[in-house]
Amino acid sequence: MTTNASLFERAQRVIPGGVNSPVRAFRAVGGTPRFITRAQGAYIWDAEDKRYFDYIGSWGPMILGHGHPEVVEAVQKAVLEGFSFGAPTEREIELAEEILKIVPSAEQVRLVSSGTEAGMSAIRLARGFTGRSKLIKFEGCYHGHADALLVKAGSGLATFGHPTSAGVPPEVVQHTLVLEYNNIAQIEEAFATQGADIACVMIEPIAGNMNFVRASVPFIKRIRELCDQHGALFVFDEVMSGFRVALGSAQSIYAKALPGFKPDISVFGKVIGGGMPLAAFAASKEIMAKLAPLGPVYQAGTLSGNPVATACGLATLKLIQRPGFFEALSASTRSLMAGFEAEAKAAGVELTTDCEGGMFGFFFADHLPQHYQAVMAKGTDKFNKFFHLMLDQGVYLAPAMYEAGFVSAAHTADDIAQTVAAAGQAFCQL
Ligand SMILES: Cc1ncc(COP(=O)(O)O)c(C=O)c1O
Repeated sequence: MTTNASLFERAQRVIPGGVNSPVRAFRAVGGTPRFITRAQGAYIWDAEDKRYFDYIGSWGPMILGHGHPEVVEAVQKAVLEGFSFGAPTEREIELAEEILKIVPSAEQVRLVSSGTEAGMSAIRLARGFTGRSKLIKFEGCYHGHADALLVKAGSGLATFGHPTSAGVPPEVVQHTLVLEYNNIAQIEEAFATQGADIACVMIEPIAGNMNFVRASVPFIKRIRELCDQHGALFVFDEVMSGFRVALGSAQSIYAKALPGFKPDISVFGKVIGGGMPLAAFAASKEIMAKLAPLGPVYQAGTLSGNPVATACGLATLKLIQRPGFFEALSASTRSLMAGFEAEAKAAGVELTTDCEGGMFGFFFADHLPQHYQAVMAKGTDKFNKFFHLMLDQGVYLAPAMYEAGFVSAAHTADDIAQTVAAAGQAFCQL
């Protein structure tokens, strides 16, 4: 009989670590990764035909749940028309128009195939536009695996980072400065000493790669001011938060608190492809005019704006704009987190939670952490145990404490209630 374990063993013979993206290997939590055979709505099934409530949703894209009939129909129609042409299509215009309609901070958008590609291109664009080299990122934010971004903080604020991956020469990250998330004093100091050289500040405004941590409103406000004062661009990486925490993405939430606020470049992925390889970066016409073929910043892709991927993304974006969609999704996510908190309290387990739209995080701590070091300081052993207790009960959470979770529109009140009940059982065994 085919089991998850037998597939994992077979996979490891031909694929490094048995997986095509490291976090899938369950290294953080231990155990055998589940090999997925099919998915529908809020559920996925593994190779042993065990069903799980899916709170990963392909790491964010599956906001409608799996196999939404209108998305499936759009994809099937597109497939019959042709897989890829390497030439422009009307659907690319439609998707670009749809994205720009929902995200008013940008005037033009370029489609690519992955979040990594989009983030890397956004940085090149920011550097090309400003004529500067340096970039600021924050510890705990992930912007894809481009060389210049695989970096951890140096020993002091004035020093640039060290590579976090073998194969990245130190010279490649010498222009990347890594600062603490939500630390206003640090970024003020960085601009005070190096402001004239900084091309951009890149941030996950609601970070989903250190569990779930929001940038504070004063922090975003101060970065905006510093970028404006020093002629640097503010890049919002909304690959995860985009069209997920709110229809207008995280930037719409900050614009409510800070009227008129907008980032200079936005990076999107995940939801805009609805589960197909599609991502994008977007900005004003003035900035985007620097891109080839109009300008000197080179950027290209054989499968960029792929006709099947754009069909999937377009159908997804149309559906999430239906009245009440985000209200219902947010209510489901809130009830999941409220349920976790209540069950943890009843079991005497310390737990705090946060969520926005269809994205959530929970921490085995007594208050919400504000930066990466605080996220990682506490609760790893409890999380790993909790993860396996949930998995055994058919609840598929992200297999690492530093990942956010996702609820889809397909999760019913009953699914949420069953998940909360499972969490209650698990908390009692911690
Ligand atoms: C915020 C953020 N940016 C960029 C990426 C990279 O996207 P991809 O995995 O599509 O290359 C991710 C992936 O999880 C992400 O969460």
